[in-house]
Amino acid sequence: MNIAVVGTGYVGLVTGTCFAETGNNVICVDIDANKVTRMKNGEVPIFEPGLDLLFERNTKAGRLHFTTNLGEAIKDAEIIFLALPTPPGEDGSADLSYILGVADQLSNLIEDYKIVIDKSTVPVGTAEKVHARIAKNCSEELFDVVSNPEFLREGVAVDDFLKPDRVVIGTSSEKAREVMRKLYNPFVRQGNPIIFMDERSAEMTKYAANSYLAARISFMNEIANLCEKVGANVDMVRKGMGSDNRIGKRFLFPGVGYGGSCFPKDVQALAKTANQHEYEFKILNSVMNVNRIQKSILAEKIKRFFQHDLQGKTIAIWGLAFKPNTDDIREAPALYIIDELLEAGANIRAYDPEAMENVAKQYGDRITLVDSLYGALDGADILAIVTEWSVFRQPDFNRIKENLSRKAIFDGRNLYDLNTMEKHGFYYESIGRNPVNRHLVVSNGKPVNS
Ligand SMILES: NC(=O)c1ccc[n+]([C@@H]2O[C@H](COP(=O)([O-])OP(=O)(O)OC[C@H]3O[C@@H](n4cnc5c(N)ncnc54)[C@H](O)[C@@H]3O)[C@@H](O)[C@H]2O)c1
Repeated sequence: MNIAVVGTGYVGLVTGTCFAETGNNVICVDIDANKVTRMKNGEVPIFEPGLDLLFERNTKAGRLHFTTNLGEAIKDAEIIFLALPTPPGEDGSADLSYILGVADQLSNLIEDYKIVIDKSTVPVGTAEKVHARIAKNCSEELFDVVSNPEFLREGVAVDDFLKPDRVVIGTSSEKAREVMRKLYNPFVRQGNPIIFMDERSAEMTKYAANSYLAARISFMNEIANLCEKVGANVDMVRKGMGSDNRIGKRFLFPGVGYGGSCFPKDVQALAKTANQHEYEFKILNSVMNVNRIQKSILAEKIKRFFQHDLQGKTIAIWGLAFKPNTDDIREAPALYIIDELLEAGANIRAYDPEAMENVAKQYGDRITLVDSLYGALDGADILAIVTEWSVFRQPDFNRIKENLSRKAIFDGRNLYDLNTMEKHGFYYESIGRNPVNRHLVVSNGKPVNS
């Protein structure tokens, strides 16, 4: 099949590359001319594990092309995916200007039958809006609009796309349904379902899924906070809960709040949709509140350790991306923590395996970025861990001890075993577990040097 993908970001590039991998001809179009030039030169502009291999194979095989010209991209395509941004607007609702802007352009460009597919996360009713915009200057016979929300996770996006748990397709067109079935069949050979439904239900499914996962995280974060107060260990509680089949093991890890380009904006947008329909979605309002507070929790712990005097203190930070295996820093908890610590007068030395280029663009010389994990510790007082990259899981604790002026680690991801930390003599605070080696904070509250 001939496919055009409009918007070549985390979703669009993975979508285009994976459809090329199953033998389709794909043209990806983006307004970012610099990005398009880089891709034409064989460079993958984002970090996503496994993507470079597929990208190279399919560009070399002549199945994956790039352009800035929408007309050229859709000319021979029967299928047009819209993988455009839907950032939060000023009032929290999803900004549809990218999607509707491209729909307006398509209205003047479509000359033969095309299926236009909303891959972006869009509020209920958007497929109808896109349909109405295209229909302005284009016969309704010449196109169908389909809702096909994407559930891939950054960091494992290629795997998720190639082997989805399910594919959700919202359409009322028999013709579009058959094309979509044919397109996705190679990805569900193990028997995972392609679930067909109406457009509105498909749009709602994506928001419901993301909001539920965000709620699960916020719930566990509150359980963790309560564990700290009552002296329970949230790791044990999580295991005890998660082995119940009704609950399941995944997505129960407490931390420093959810971030990324999806959960924060999608929860907000669903709450806004509810408002617009005069329904107060009480759980979502709490989820957002809990998350706002949780993002400050690590910075609060650090401030308490230093008796609220961070002037001139140097904090080493491991992990900047909003989660491991991505370079994406949109709404990353690390940035909130850094902002709070800078505001309080601290110096920051930070390391991340992939996200430093993006962070450098945002922070300039306000923080020091170093290119090795131990380099971040040079001259640092304490270490804070914000993203659970694998490389942080088994560090050389002796080296950490030698480098930090205070033997203190603040772990927002519960990476380390409490006994190990106790044996190494660190003052160690994590999430939902008792602090270790409390005696290192003497009675007047002043932290003890090693
Ligand atoms: N990132 C994720 O993990 C993820 C997962 C599922 C769904 N989604 C949804 O998918 C959508 C896209 O997300 P993303 O993370 O890929 O965004 P992104 O910001 O990484 O990519 C969007 C791309 O669209 C391009 N663009 C903007 N306007 C354009 C135009 N008029 N014509 C052509 N290209 C244009 C941008 O230059 C950019 O390259 C969003 O609605 C998001 O909520 C994202």
